[in-house]
Amino acid sequence: MARTEELDALLKEERVFRPPSRLVVGANVGPEEYAASLKVADDNPLVYWERAALELAWFKKWDTVLDETHAPFYRWFVGAQCNIVYNALDRHVDTAVKNKLALLWEGEPGDIRKFTYYELYREVNRFANAMRSLGVGKGDKVVIYMPSIPETVVSMLAAAKIGAVHTVVFGGFSAKALRSRIIDAKAKLVITVDGFYRNGRVMNLKTIVDEALIDCSAQCPDTVIVVRRAGIDVEMSEPRDLRYEDLVRQERPEALTEVMDANDPLFLLYSSGATGTPKGIVHSHGGYMVGVNRSLSWVFDIKPTDIFWCTADPGWVTGHSYLVYGPLLTGASIVMYEGHPLYPQADRLWDMVERHGVTTLYATPTLIRMLMRYGSRYPQRHDLHTLRLLGTVGEPISPEVWVWFHKHVGRGECPLLDTWWQTETGMFMIAPLPISLLKPGSVGRPLPGIEADVVDGKGNPVPPGKGGYLVIKKPWPGMLSGLLGDEDAYKDAYWTKIPGMYFAGDVARKDEDGFFWIQGRADDVLNIAGHRLGTAEFESALVAHKFADEAAVIGIPDAVKGEAAKAFIVPAAGWQDVFASREELIVTLKDHVRRELGPVASIKAVELVETLPRTRSGKILRRVLRAQELGQEVGDLSTLEENDPDRPLMPEE
Ligand code: WTA
Repeated sequence: MARTEELDALLKEERVFRPPSRLVVGANVGPEEYAASLKVADDNPLVYWERAALELAWFKKWDTVLDETHAPFYRWFVGAQCNIVYNALDRHVDTAVKNKLALLWEGEPGDIRKFTYYELYREVNRFANAMRSLGVGKGDKVVIYMPSIPETVVSMLAAAKIGAVHTVVFGGFSAKALRSRIIDAKAKLVITVDGFYRNGRVMNLKTIVDEALIDCSAQCPDTVIVVRRAGIDVEMSEPRDLRYEDLVRQERPEALTEVMDANDPLFLLYSSGATGTPKGIVHSHGGYMVGVNRSLSWVFDIKPTDIFWCTADPGWVTGHSYLVYGPLLTGASIVMYEGHPLYPQADRLWDMVERHGVTTLYATPTLIRMLMRYGSRYPQRHDLHTLRLLGTVGEPISPEVWVWFHKHVGRGECPLLDTWWQTETGMFMIAPLPISLLKPGSVGRPLPGIEADVVDGKGNPVPPGKGGYLVIKKPWPGMLSGLLGDEDAYKDAYWTKIPGMYFAGDVARKDEDGFFWIQGRADDVLNIAGHRLGTAEFESALVAHKFADEAAVIGIPDAVKGEAAKAFIVPAAGWQDVFASREELIVTLKDHVRRELGPVASIKAVELVETLPRTRSGKILRRVLRAQELGQEVGDLSTLEENDPDRPLMPEE
């Protein structure tokens, strides 16, 4: 991240945008209600969250809103029973929402599939019954290795309906990454597709699953269910592999919804934290549904007529909270797209907004930067008047990109809501509402019930304008319930860096008006195109190659992806005997990482070096490499050696 340049731009940013009055008048939450809610939430957050919970259906209500006795293992809505799928689907079938469009999916070649709530409900029930007949039930782990297609949504909901715990693995991860997640989760079932379309080509996912399962041996899941999407021939290994279509065809479209404890796990999502190896972040039915429902309906002001398009892949948390669960909880109509945003040309998104009458478009800064490069003539070719609200997530958006999106896509009229949150938070934490004043590049103020702050290393708030660590000072319902099987890692990663506060791992600053400006990660996590990847993941993949003795990876600025990976590698002796040139070795090492981690994790630049800067105890000084790379002062190394070398880089340093 070009911290200094970005920071300079942000510090100079003075533009403010006021919401159009017709939006304020028609908003679900008007200025007065918002102010009153803030007051309730400040005075008594549990009352605020209890009211939010009462908007959903429960099989049994809670005895306690929040149990803090085992903090930081906070438990929300203790004693309550529910199922998020009951709220996302079942209850709608008894209302007018039953016949409304739930999901409109467009394949990359242009094929379209539509499901009403009732149709989606029936499909989910069929698949839930099929999973049950295979012996999958409460607490079992189901790995979903799928692209953006309706059956991915159906699989997630069907698993949750029967009380199984889904873990969606992004299709851009390698066989090895998939295997480690299957093993760590002890998955009983894997759901995948034959293939899917991306940038005019058919990508085969089933072969990657086959490869992942070769060495799983005793830990192999019993069953792999294969959805037909691309219609290509795939090898079906009997009796393990079953066809989705054969299974659901024979099932009834009614299924019992499992009664879950509010704190029973709903899903696992693997993400790279400071620990290096991806950990399974656990979310539960009760608190998560309350947080996601409230945050979506308030921030995106969901109306019965909305056509909500979240461009995220279901493999990331945004896909979970705001492509699948949130919109269905609020009874909205979802748009989902399979393919590449530039296929067949740079107006695919705008064309889809026009054809489907999209009202709300929630995207990432990387996507916007990519489309912005093609200029405003592409959005101009289309009638985008149905758009009401725009949103972004995942990485800082520079004021220039913000203003382009707002002006050329949002006609200068649609509020652009920059939402800050994380896989761990489950839900929006700091975000404006459509009624809010907006400052381009800022994520606005914390939502009611969320106590966020910017503090120094000891937990003291820093003055306005100063950089510091972003923390959350009170628990919130959408929060992770832990990391799968690792209580210590959960405490260390989030709760001990600054005792008593949730450490988000980001650096930020708060201005005089209390607006937050996120600058990027404070730890060794890269944010490449909005995807979190640990430097340790790259490094361990690199040193697994016999011609890389040592490796250190840092983030460098990238015009489209925000950040890219650069590796410093000490090559193994004798490499000259095998490779004709440095370039040849570099290409081999880059290919190796792509194969090891998957196409999502590519290394942009490699520098071969003789040694890496290290502390006396042998830890790599990545911040020295980073400072050299960005042409910044390295600082006083003697003190650095004594202190923790991995101490996060503070923005003012
Ligand atoms: C970053 C994605 C700036 C941040 C929902 C965070 C952001 C990480 C924003 C979480 C934003 C997320 N502005 N940075 N609006 N939203 N981030 O877990 O560094 O994939 O810690 O969740 O993305 O990434 P994750």
